[in-house]
Amino acid sequence: MSGTAHPASASMSVEVPVIDHATDPVHAAEPPADPAALAAGWLPGPDADRMLMTLSTVSPEGVPHARTVMLSDFDGVRFSFHTDASSRKVADLAVNPRVALTILWPGFTRQLVVEGLATRASDTAAARAYARRSPYLRQLAWMNTDEVAGRPLAQREEGWARFAAEHPDPEPPAGWVGFTVAPERWLFWVSHPGAPSRRIEYTRSGAGWSARPLPG
Ligand SMILES: Cc1cc2nc3c(=O)[nH]c(=O)nc-3n(C[C@H](O)[C@H](O)[C@H](O)COP(=O)(O)O)c2cc1C
Repeated sequence: MSGTAHPASASMSVEVPVIDHATDPVHAAEPPADPAALAAGWLPGPDADRMLMTLSTVSPEGVPHARTVMLSDFDGVRFSFHTDASSRKVADLAVNPRVALTILWPGFTRQLVVEGLATRASDTAAARAYARRSPYLRQLAWMNTDEVAGRPLAQREEGWARFAAEHPDPEPPAGWVGFTVAPERWLFWVSHPGAPSRRIEYTRSGAGWSARPLPG
């Protein structure tokens, strides 16, 4: 594999967005009222490549844990990600469902930070997300175990090839789980080559959101 593109990378290539700063809603004197609509305008559509994000959780001891995961979906309200039920992040979430999601666009053009509460997605939704993953990632969900991680490389390669031959179209493993995150605070950050970067922060205000600009 060395020197070649990773088989999962094709689903993670998001292009540098072209931003017209003169008309971009983030620079408007009155920020848009609905952060979800703003996020939908930033994020690729459902058929495009998935973006990556940093998922931050807090351990029962109060220690922050951060890692990269794929943004499986933004349905216009909630963000979802998928993972292994036996992972550390799921243990953190069982005790404290508060998370932060950080999504960075290529070219350092945009950053979106969302803080909110994570809840378990239905098995049906998780199975749908599994079906959307590349063959490499579907197999990885089966083979990302402590037991496999402890084996020497040659055994892991041999086990990988054997699994692929025996399971050309695997179902989701038992531990495949999804979470959706309902935002409580949003931070939209934009860079600008000829002006300071800035953010718009949205926090809850009654049934809607209140927005204010912040320095970058
Ligand atoms: C590019 C990239 C994408 C990843 N996507 C996921 C993902 O969607 N779900 C996941 O559980 N782990 C994903 N990982 C692995 C996580 O970063 C992490 O190592 C793993 O989930 C274990 O995290 P934990 O021990 O903190 O729970 C990805 C890693 C990278 C580098």
